[in-house]
Amino acid sequence: MSSSLGGWATVLAEVDDDGLAWVTLNRPEKRNAMNPTLNSEMLEVLDAVEAEDKAKVLVLTGAGDAFSAGMDLKEYFRDVDAAGAVARARSRRDANQWQYRRLMFFPKPTIAMVNGWCFGGAFTPLVACDLAVAADEAVFGLSEVNWGIPPGSVVSRALAETVPARDALYYIMTGRSFTGKQAADMRLVNESVPRSVLRERTAELARHLAGMNRAVLEAAKTGFKRARSMEWEVSEEYLYAKLDQSIATDPEGGRERGLAQFLDEKSFRPGLGQYRRE
Ligand code: COA
Repeated sequence: MSSSLGGWATVLAEVDDDGLAWVTLNRPEKRNAMNPTLNSEMLEVLDAVEAEDKAKVLVLTGAGDAFSAGMDLKEYFRDVDAAGAVARARSRRDANQWQYRRLMFFPKPTIAMVNGWCFGGAFTPLVACDLAVAADEAVFGLSEVNWGIPPGSVVSRALAETVPARDALYYIMTGRSFTGKQAADMRLVNESVPRSVLRERTAELARHLAGMNRAVLEAAKTGFKRARSMEWEVSEEYLYAKLDQSIATDPEGGRERGLAQFLDEKSFRPGLGQYRRE
């Protein structure tokens, strides 16, 4: 049984019994291209997933045979250009707000499930998610040069965050497409699996994360993402502060329980799995 998180024109969002929030970009007739409506609705959807206590892990995917065909070439580019500078600035702000800032530092774990077409602007939310699983058959591309622009928004920055420069420049400059398997080889995604098992494989990973200590996971992912752009000395201060914050705010006192189960009870080995949370 899944329960809906609300009604939106361009996004489906529901939470299942395992605590997985399935967020589906839902314009399959337009290959889930991201138009201004979708960009502003996704801000509401992310707020709803954050506020829903039952939602422990967010999975982002697309309806039909696309993850997302990128920014909507008509509504996001042509129509917004025609509407003037203020409309364009607002439209860009909404897009970047959810695709990058909000998703990158979302307090709950996030997984991109790339089920099919993934082009251009879709690379931003893909990279902003903590983890990514693709279908072998998915087709990716930095197709911007094919229609006459360099990659827009922070797409190039997102690539630099994940894949080696040779791969990034090859695909940015040639505009050629690549498969889910190739995306896994260059570490754009964690793994690729046949499309027939994509949902179950992603759900298995998401359930694993859903069964872990939420406060500790949040501190762990935020610490990694923030610290990587800091100098070492600053990151030392920041990460110790993050560690102390995590210990102080963890409602289930994970650290003490883990230490007690290992050192006193000798009933579990941290190297091989998680402490007992019950
Ligand atoms: N923006 C706006 N509309 C888009 C779109 C986009 N990024 N991608 C697809 N669509 C629309 C098409 O215009 C078409 O609309 P219509 O049915 O009203 O004519 C519909 O979605 C289906 O597209 P179609 O090209 O017929 O589907 P396909 O399955 O044969 O091919 C793609 C899928 C993704 C390969 C192809 O649509 C494509 O190349 N899209 C653009 C990808 C891109 O360059 N994105 C980068 C943007 S920065």
